[in-house]
Amino acid sequence: MSLAPEAPVRVGVLGVGTVGAALVRLLSRHPEFIVTAALVRDPGRARDLGARPPRLTTDPDEAIDGADIVVELLGGVEWPTALMARAAERGARLVTANKAALAEAWPTWRPWIEAGRVGFEAAVMAGTPAIGPLTGALRGSRMHALEAVLNGTCAYLIGELERGVALETALAEAQRLGYAEADPSLDVDGWDAAHKVAVVARMTVAPELAWSDVVPRVRGVRGLTPDWVRTERAAGRRVRLVAYVEPDGAGGWRVGVEPRSIAAERPLAFLADGRNALVYRGDAVGEVWIAGPGAGAYVTASAVLADVLQAARGEPGPRPARAVVSPVDASPTPLGVVTPSLA
Ligand code: NAP
Ligand code: HSE
Repeated sequence: MSLAPEAPVRVGVLGVGTVGAALVRLLSRHPEFIVTAALVRDPGRARDLGARPPRLTTDPDEAIDGADIVVELLGGVEWPTALMARAAERGARLVTANKAALAEAWPTWRPWIEAGRVGFEAAVMAGTPAIGPLTGALRGSRMHALEAVLNGTCAYLIGELERGVALETALAEAQRLGYAEADPSLDVDGWDAAHKVAVVARMTVAPELAWSDVVPRVRGVRGLTPDWVRTERAAGRRVRLVAYVEPDGAGGWRVGVEPRSIAAERPLAFLADGRNALVYRGDAVGEVWIAGPGAGAYVTASAVLADVLQAARGEPGPRPARAVVSPVDASPTPLGVVTPSLA
């Protein structure tokens, strides 16, 4: 992308649902951008697109052609990836919040990401920075392990289960709050957290990680009962849906998602309901916590807009680990050690 300094930056938006509509409203505060067109399924549906509503279309090419930056906020895997391939061929910078596509269609996305052409901060922990620090400041250490709460819907559901609310009732409220995926089984069954942790693992230590390596290690919250969650809480622990990247004991990494019961003084335990957190432990830096909101319209659109601003400045997006980073220690002590442990 090369832009004359005074030329408005043309942004094509694929999808103006929960996140896309919030992005368009935020973009209307930035006169340097023009949203050329926005792809939707139903242009007749009433929606609040702020002060400068874009033209709505059902033809993806109208949103892609001539755009300097194409932002994908549709969801799904194959179709959004194919549309972004079209945008990449036409020379656009790419921005997405779509962790499902990044996780499951990694072989297609990887070359674009390696070339620095993609912004996807919003795909993991939404507006709370995760990809930036993991591929920036934390690259000075070698990673021991990483544990995270990456799904806001499940974090909210578990809080409600603790209060004795049934899973289905709590899920309806998470949907109303804009946290849940269009298909909420992606949240409840652990797939959304798995998509995110697959992206995190590839960006930090395991660029070759295949989605099929993660799939057998994914468990969600569907089987959790208010009784179990409350019993754990009464015993001084909190149940969390934990996404992890850990040494596998054989020189590689194990990546998955499962409910874990966490000691109440640990950072993943004392998170407020619905929030996300990531605990990274590296040999030089020790333990680092990142926490904040991880879902919702403006929370997510905030990070998408930051990627759009970065692309418009011509700055490269985050790069994955260049090659597999071997674990420093095949069986590190459990997360919780805060002292740097450089050998
Ligand atoms: P959403 O509310 O379901 O919006 C999806 C948008 O895509 C809608 O505008 C929809 O059109 C459009 N769309 C879907 N299928 C289409 C088709 N076949 N043809 C044309 N348009 C189509 O989803 P969302 O919550 O905004 O999420 C968007 C992306 O952001 C997903 O990848 C999600 O995983 C990711 N994300 C979401 C959050 C969050 O908190 N919601 C956070 C981080 C990342 P209509 O409006 O006409 O139906
Ligand atoms: N459905 C996702 C969640 C949205 O609940 O965390 C943010 O990626």
